[in-house]
Amino acid sequence: MLRDDYIAIKNTSKHFGSVKAVDDISFDIAEAEFFSLLGASGCGKTTLLRMLAGFEQPTIGNIYIDGQPQAGVPPHQRPVNMVFQNYAIFPHLNVHKNIAYGMRKSGLSKAEVDRKVDEMLELIKLPGYGARGAHQLSGGQRQRIALARALIKQPKVLLLDEPLGALDKKLREQMQLELRALQRDVGITFVFVTHDQEEAMTMSDRIAVMSLGKVLQIDTPTSLYEVPQIKEVADFIGTINFFDGSIKGKEGDSTVVTAAGLGTVHSTAGGAAAPTSGDITVAIRPEKFNLSFQQPNADRNVVEGVIQAAAYLGDRSHYYVQVEGRDAPIAVAAQNAERQMQAITSESHEKVWLTWEQDFALLLTA
Ligand SMILES: Nc1ncnc2c1ncn2[C@@H]1O[C@H](COP(=O)(O)OP(=O)(O)OP(=O)(O)O)[C@@H](O)[C@H]1O
Ligand SMILES: [Mg+2]
Repeated sequence: MLRDDYIAIKNTSKHFGSVKAVDDISFDIAEAEFFSLLGASGCGKTTLLRMLAGFEQPTIGNIYIDGQPQAGVPPHQRPVNMVFQNYAIFPHLNVHKNIAYGMRKSGLSKAEVDRKVDEMLELIKLPGYGARGAHQLSGGQRQRIALARALIKQPKVLLLDEPLGALDKKLREQMQLELRALQRDVGITFVFVTHDQEEAMTMSDRIAVMSLGKVLQIDTPTSLYEVPQIKEVADFIGTINFFDGSIKGKEGDSTVVTAAGLGTVHSTAGGAAAPTSGDITVAIRPEKFNLSFQQPNADRNVVEGVIQAAAYLGDRSHYYVQVEGRDAPIAVAAQNAERQMQAITSESHEKVWLTWEQDFALLLTA
């Protein structure tokens, strides 16, 4: 049975003088989970990771790994290993010696260490690279060696602090998929730090979105995107349109809201938990709008506008639709599944109608 609370962070804070780098955070990470910490620079990701590794002690609070309190446990006695952003592999050692470095105090025989190093080279898809010098490797290969060195001791938890940050986009995307597959293979818990939302979404089972030392929401990539709980999370993950609104009441399952630029909106998002009165932000993703050039046969959740700007991006197009009652145009994204030989241009000022499903109008608080 895998533990749900393999890592348990309980009311944990880290203060540096007056800076609350981590501010009263509590959550659990499951065994064998690929868990990411996502947030803007300075939000406390590295500080939290360093507390898990034992390089920092919490100012307040407790961290448990596999049920064991970690207070006072030094880094080398924790069942964790850390991979740093600037993949520190030793430049004067060859690949084999770099990977074997982690085993130097293991008490294993040379033959056993050699066998383990070969296994690791197999795992990171660099078999036969043992004798290569560190300077004879590409950035992506060095990154994989750093991973192998951290994995060879078979830690229960691997902490990765922006490990792909130094790689170019293409290599980075390839490494994301490889790292994910490798994590599935070895079945250990990964805590992965990144400020890149696409990277976090590609790899993670769950993501904690952080801001100013706090955790805003922890969820699967799909839930964070489709049903963000607060405005800040909706804004941080992907693109979204916000409309100032106020709740008028309930009509069956839907919440009726008047929103600037959309008129009356019927929303079923949030279900029974949706607020029943007060000011609210209506939020709709660009691709959740349907754009049509003929007036649709809809009596609710429809708005008329004019295309103010358009960008043809090949697979999809982006439209910016000016509507009455809202200063900023509404961002709309449409897939170009059909061939469009005449792209809509910014100058065309065409009249359009936007419609959306009741479920796609999210009702968010600040
Ligand atoms: N040793 C320290 N002494 C004082 N302040 C620190 C120390 N380490 C971190 N901080 C501060 O704590 C806050 C969080 O820093 P942290 O390194 O955890 O952020 P981060 O989310 O990893 O950012 P980045 O994405 O830029 O790496 C920042 O305001 C930072 O200046
Ligand atoms: Mg950092």
